[in-house]
Amino acid sequence: MIETLSLLLCVLAGRSTGLESSGPTGIEAFVEQHARDVTYYGSGKAALRDGLASIAEPGQNVLVPAYLPDAVVEPFCELGLEPRRYRIKETLAPDLADVERRIDADTVAVMSVNYFGFPQPGLDELTALIDEHGCYHIDDNAHAPLSVVDGTLLGTRGDLGITSLRKLLPIPDGALLYCNSDGVRERFEPSSLSGVHERFDASDCQFVAKSLAVDVFSADDRVRRSVDALVTGRRNSLAAANPADRYEAGKRPMSKLSARVVDNSDPKAIRSARRENYRTWRRVLASRDDLEVRWESLPDGICPQVFPVRTRDPERFLAELEGVGMRGAHTWPRLAESVRTDPTYETSTALARETVVLPVQQCVDPSSIRAVGEKLRR
Ligand SMILES: Cc1ncc(COP(=O)(O)O)c(C=O)c1O
Repeated sequence: MIETLSLLLCVLAGRSTGLESSGPTGIEAFVEQHARDVTYYGSGKAALRDGLASIAEPGQNVLVPAYLPDAVVEPFCELGLEPRRYRIKETLAPDLADVERRIDADTVAVMSVNYFGFPQPGLDELTALIDEHGCYHIDDNAHAPLSVVDGTLLGTRGDLGITSLRKLLPIPDGALLYCNSDGVRERFEPSSLSGVHERFDASDCQFVAKSLAVDVFSADDRVRRSVDALVTGRRNSLAAANPADRYEAGKRPMSKLSARVVDNSDPKAIRSARRENYRTWRRVLASRDDLEVRWESLPDGICPQVFPVRTRDPERFLAELEGVGMRGAHTWPRLAESVRTDPTYETSTALARETVVLPVQQCVDPSSIRAVGEKLRR
């Protein structure tokens, strides 16, 4: 039964059942072509925890961008590290002067983020500064497990990096830690949160059953909504949970179900489907002068997580989308209150308020994006 459900989940993922693709096309094989040292986890935050534990001591600080979801700093706090936030620019590049001002003798690392599947703007200047101060560089690539720039997989450009597989595939959990530099590899000790569960368990089965229920009923809006409410109760309650609880929920090894789907997914097909959806959104929204497209060009190798736009009136745009039956768009991210209430971080706060992300998942058909575009124009 569970084996069958796992295959069905692959079908829902829109690509491969594993019956026709094995080994060379799986994501595991793809990642191993690009990264030397890869460890599996249940979540990106758990991966970050183990990576941080291998380089930092309690009392030290790590610089992180202020434009970051609130729960990402939870592992820092658990380890007794100070997440020290630096300002970013409108372009999402780090404010280098601010980074430099905040580095002190206790700064062990600086983190950059490849937002939405695209490489961190201003990375060369940032890494020069990090090297000058003798800190580690953490390459947070939670959004882009398959993005490759000039032959290098995002997430592998720092001393250590992470990526979140559950942001790419419809799986209950899954993330990777990359230990890239020799110094980190020597110090790294995986905790009990690392690895992959040996067996399928009840929560795997529950997850697939829920995914199927939502899919089956998605044609009828009223039924879909009530099924959504019923079966995604856990996910919604998690979404509403505080950052510490969200961190705790992901502190585990990756499930066997996720590992199976990851292994049987075709990176090329996923990347190409997401890129097609990204280009379709760009065409569909091209005439909207109330929306600023974050990245007009989509360089080779990029596997977008979402299609981000900026608008002065996000509520109106979201209501418009909802009005034409489009779900799944939202502002990003939920910032920590300490960031939102601090005028130092006004750029990050404005970006978080005004950035709306639209789905480009491989299971979305470009024709449904075009249909949304037509309805929006009417
Ligand atoms: C930039 C960034 N880093 C790290 C994470 C953590 O990933 P996960 O949700 O797999 O713990 C997230 C999650 O949203 C994220 O957006």
